[in-house]
Amino acid sequence: MPAAQITIERHIIEQQKQFPQATGDFSALLYDIAFAAKIISREVRKAGLVDILGFTGKENVQGEQVQKLDEFADDIMFRALDHTGRLCCMASEEQEDIITIPERFDTGKYVLLYDPLDGSSNIDANVSIGTIFSIHRKISDDDGHGTLEDCLQPGYKQAGAGYVIYGSSTMMVYTAGNGVFGFTLDPSVGEFLLSHNNIRIPRRAKIYSTNEGNFFNWDKNVQNYINYLKTPDKETRRPYSSRYIGSLVADFHRNLLYGGIFLYPADNKNPNGKLRLLYEANPLAFIVEQAGGYASTGSQRILELQPNDLHQRIPLIIGSYDDVREAEEFFQGEREA
Ligand code: AHG
Ligand code: MN
Ligand code: MN
Repeated sequence: MPAAQITIERHIIEQQKQFPQATGDFSALLYDIAFAAKIISREVRKAGLVDILGFTGKENVQGEQVQKLDEFADDIMFRALDHTGRLCCMASEEQEDIITIPERFDTGKYVLLYDPLDGSSNIDANVSIGTIFSIHRKISDDDGHGTLEDCLQPGYKQAGAGYVIYGSSTMMVYTAGNGVFGFTLDPSVGEFLLSHNNIRIPRRAKIYSTNEGNFFNWDKNVQNYINYLKTPDKETRRPYSSRYIGSLVADFHRNLLYGGIFLYPADNKNPNGKLRLLYEANPLAFIVEQAGGYASTGSQRILELQPNDLHQRIPLIIGSYDDVREAEEFFQGEREA
């Protein structure tokens, strides 16, 4: 008998048994997201074959309008989740305003925030990209529909978070606050199967990931830290290796498995950094902390920030615990070497 295969559905159900008061809505929501991920994965896999790449407005061979893949992914997420009765509202990196649930559908007690396609500038080069999501509980007390208040909650209040990476295989990684689990999509059966049980990020990194082209736009403290990582020292296993894909999901995923620190700090041109608090920093911060790592702005814990705007950007330093803490010392000018 082959070893039992644990599908994502079975895993979610078993996890949920630990919470007897759970209604099953949260589990179902995760499963709905996994379904959306399969559709997006299918389209990403086809991207090189069909004329789906390129700009909005282009026509494909059938004369239909084709969408950019990130708009397509945005649409899929919305349409896989709008009618489920589990969400009171959504918000997406691709949409200016909060996304309301159409009147004809029931609303529910959760809020979904997502980056439908992360690393989208890499699509045409066949580089790994992903989908990132964050789940909050509804806190507003008006009727069934969610409000901005429901979306602008600090990250430590997340009920769940995860990402899907469309890489050499498609994987979904999620946490519901009880460890981090990774599932690999078996395309022959169309199921996500448990492949990475209880992921722990090494406490110390081997790798640093940052866009070093920004070096001369960084402040001195950030420059000192990166110079430190490159300075040879046997005892502290320096220099670190540099790995930067330019898809946050892919850089994060590799660092989660191998140990690493990812940095997108503020610079002269981007005083708040580049990445978004709600769709990128918060969900990945929740995952990394659940795996034993840490995420910071350089001075504050990401998960404690009170968001004030749907598309707020934030400096992000995330990864192996000891390294992110050490980076904070440099960023605050407490250390120079
Ligand atoms: P998105 O594709 O969702 O807009 O995100 C792009 C982000 C992120 O994936 C990546 O880490 C970062 O942009 C790369 O930025 P640089 O090109 O400035 O290095
Ligand atoms: Mn992104
Ligand atoms: Mn995106």
